[in-house]
Amino acid sequence: MEYLDMVLNETLRLYPIANRIERACKKDIELDGLFIPKGAIVAAPAFALHRDPKYWPEPEEFRPERFSKKNKGSIDPYVYLPFGNGPRNCIGMRFALMNMKLAITKVLQNFSFQPCKETQIPIKLRRQGLLQTEKPIVLKVVPRDEIITGA
Ligand code: HEM
Repeated sequence: MEYLDMVLNETLRLYPIANRIERACKKDIELDGLFIPKGAIVAAPAFALHRDPKYWPEPEEFRPERFSKKNKGSIDPYVYLPFGNGPRNCIGMRFALMNMKLAITKVLQNFSFQPCKETQIPIKLRRQGLLQTEKPIVLKVVPRDEIITGA
């Protein structure tokens, strides 16, 4: 399910649940002329990096093709951080991706989702903590004509 993988990657680019990744500095260091003292907390701004036009043309556009087989090799892993990076990245990444794919597949086999009058458009995001919408995302759930039943 190559396209589903691309869609999930693009969704996590626009909406990274952890919008900042943090690390504690273990020793005094100077990087590109910036002194960072031991003990300082350094935050990598995942949300901002994911929408930086320097790395993503028309960053506000939802374009799963950014993650196509052809394109994904050119993505810098320090610019795309939905699960962090390095030795302390998300231990549940593969499990989470597999479960999201299973859940989406199962639900979409039977239902489609449409915006309705209660849907907040454009969606507004909370400014603090883990990434969340200001209001719950309300959608109309429509059964598909040919319901696929299965175990
Ligand atoms: C869509 C779902 C998920 C997202 C977006 C996510 C994202 C993240 C991020 C950004 C980090 C910080 C990584 C870093 O600092 O470099 C993290 C850490 C972690 N995640 Fe997840 N996560 C998800 C699901 C899960 C699941 C399902 C599990 C467990 C089954 C899990 C377990 C952990 C653990 C234990 C850490 C800490 C790892 C460490 O400090 O060594 N996560 N996750």
